[in-house]
Amino acid sequence: MATVLLVDITRLTAADVDQLARQASPERRERAARFRFEADRLRCLVAGALLAHALVRTHRLRPDDYTITRNRYGKPLLQDRPGVEFNLSHAGSWVVCATGTDPVGVDVEALANARPHLADGMFAPDERDYVLGGPAAEASLRFTRVWTLKEAYTKYLGRGLSEPLDRFSVLTGDGLVPAGEGVPAPSLHWRTVDDAAGIVAWCGTAAAGWELLSVESAELVAGLG
Ligand SMILES: CC(C)(COP(=O)(O)OP(=O)(O)OC[C@H]1O[C@@H](n2cnc3c(N)ncnc32)[C@H](O)[C@@H]1OP(=O)(O)O)[C@@H](O)C(=O)NCCC(=O)NCCS
Repeated sequence: MATVLLVDITRLTAADVDQLARQASPERRERAARFRFEADRLRCLVAGALLAHALVRTHRLRPDDYTITRNRYGKPLLQDRPGVEFNLSHAGSWVVCATGTDPVGVDVEALANARPHLADGMFAPDERDYVLGGPAAEASLRFTRVWTLKEAYTKYLGRGLSEPLDRFSVLTGDGLVPAGEGVPAPSLHWRTVDDAAGIVAWCGTAAAGWELLSVESAELVAGLG
């Protein structure tokens, strides 16, 4: 079973944020400092803390036990730790971290940021029809559902947005990588968060699927124990 942990950053106090900044690795602090807006800096800091929390919680690994590297497309990975996989996403009020024993991709987006018209030209034809051909009131939900699934898939592959988004369909599975020798084809799932204010999508091969769990600020700040 893969795990996706979610933090609602609006529940963090100023004291929590100070504490997280103090606990952050130099690499995370430096990444966060590159952002112009406070909200981006905060999400970036929380992502680092949530990853550390998730690796202790799901794999009993403490920060001194691993080194984080990135592949050529920017996907962070643990060096020399086969069987320990993770992926991060942050948007709106949320930061999510997926962990597991097999490669994984995760994405979170707020429905408020949906741009359904972008489905025309950016998505596969069946995805565009699903978004733009349904009830107008559902367009944001449908767009965000497809968008997050597509991002989760490209992040599972580790290629980010270098993967052309119109060449595969998350609705039919057309164009997705087939099962390999001893490796099942990836499956894609989504769930709403905060009464459908946002969507979290997960892509992976874990046979038992995934669970989505909230992490309270106290657990995050309590650190790495
Ligand atoms: C992955 C990608 C699609 C970004 O998507 P996004 O919607 O902007 O960002 P998300 O919040 O969903 O994901 C960002 C996280 O994905 C992970 N990521 C980055 N590149 C990735 C890749 N090629 N494959 C899988 N995961 C990737 C990182 O952990 C990143 O967070 P981090 O930089 O805080 O460690 C990628 O193409 C991209 O644009 N990378 C730049 C991401 C970046 O620099 N973010 C800075 C946040 S501090």
